[in-house]
Amino acid sequence: MDRIKISGGNELRGIIPISGAKNAALPLMIASLLTSDTLTLENVPHLADVEGLMRILGNHGVDIAVNGRRERQEDGYSRTIHFTCRTIADTTAPYELVSKMRASFWVIGPLLAREGRARVSLPGGCAIGTRPVDLFLEGLAALGAEIEIDGGYVNATAPKGGLIGNHYRFPKVSVGATHVMMMAATLANGTTVIENAAREPEVVDLANCLNAMGAKVSGAGTKTITVEGVTSLSGARHRVLPDRIETGTYAMAVAMTGGDVTLEGTDGALLENALDTLRQAGAEITETPSGLRVVRNGNGIQPVDVVTEPFPGFPTDLQAQFMALMTRSSGVSHITETIFENRFMHVQELARLGARISLSGQMARVEGVSRLKGAPVMATDLRASVSLVIAGLAAEGETVVNRVYHLDRGFERLEEKLTRCGAIVQRVSE
Ligand code: EPZ
Repeated sequence: MDRIKISGGNELRGIIPISGAKNAALPLMIASLLTSDTLTLENVPHLADVEGLMRILGNHGVDIAVNGRRERQEDGYSRTIHFTCRTIADTTAPYELVSKMRASFWVIGPLLAREGRARVSLPGGCAIGTRPVDLFLEGLAALGAEIEIDGGYVNATAPKGGLIGNHYRFPKVSVGATHVMMMAATLANGTTVIENAAREPEVVDLANCLNAMGAKVSGAGTKTITVEGVTSLSGARHRVLPDRIETGTYAMAVAMTGGDVTLEGTDGALLENALDTLRQAGAEITETPSGLRVVRNGNGIQPVDVVTEPFPGFPTDLQAQFMALMTRSSGVSHITETIFENRFMHVQELARLGARISLSGQMARVEGVSRLKGAPVMATDLRASVSLVIAGLAAEGETVVNRVYHLDRGFERLEEKLTRCGAIVQRVSE
């Protein structure tokens, strides 16, 4: 299993190219199941989760060509990939595949809309919380689907003439359930109105792609999305939007180590709340023609309280990284997690580096310390792992981050991007 060794203490200076967003690429790839034509996606990040989803889509009959060739490009940055699903080969998404990645459950929407049936394994629990699928099932039932759970699988069947548009209000905001409802409603009979929809930029990106495929989706990015059903969708070419979580992660790394880095190819409008929070903490952030420039000013790191919320609030996917930053602040900050009930696994690992953090329910109290000291650490999810990397960059001495496969799920060429900016980061294979 690979590990990452970090010798901390260097400032970050240079340019970091920001990749296409993992959490946009995954639903966009799944949307290829809605049409028999080719969906071409540009700027798809080269990540383990993307590769995993390609295997799942292949199982459903999607033919995949990377950069026009059929072989995989193993060493590339974000790529152009063509997805063609002439016919759905299999409407079952088996446990062995779905259990590895929760987002693969989302195939239920397109399969049901196009084929009238889907049998998809329940994704099961995950390290950051119980993560049920009740909202997906209620939403699809509102479109007329009959849902039954049998042997760990969800069996969903559409009425004879296909799904039927309806008004549905989510009792709680869910990114995944919003993606699935939107995709399912594109091919339903009549109009669907989704209320209390997720407003994340990735939802807007999916809606834009669906519209390029001939769907009639309006209101994405607001709380109410309207989808007028059409009889079929066509192919399209779409560019995956930049990864706002990768952007925020590197911005926090610079705020923590000090330095001057341009995050190229990103867009500050995707993460205004997080950038404002970082500014309050003492980073100077400016928009440039090519992206964002992050400079850490000379005033040290100020403590700032944050509460995670659905977009446009502070993202839960940046909570761990911000906590790493706050471990070096000049006071006490409070970080409250409201999205997932168990997303504090990084706390005990940050403590190994000398952080002072106490937990009380969903709130962490972080007392800044003047220095962190390197240590061996590991984490059980993607964002927690990267928070340990950025803490390691600012710690004295050597930090070894174990279980690097979590990082490979969501950060394209992490070591290379950091090394180019002066960090001493090395992947060690065993
Ligand atoms: C997406 O997960 C992201 N994943 C997550 O990023 C992100 O943390 C999350 O949205 C919140 O922003 C992808 O886009 C691939 P939710 P998702 O449904 O869609 C509860 C990362 O690190 N809920 O918005 O699974 C759920 O348990 C990942 O990249 C129900 O109760 O999240 C959670 O408490 C991790 N019933 C809350 O809603 C349901 O049926 C929000 O989850 C569905 C969700």
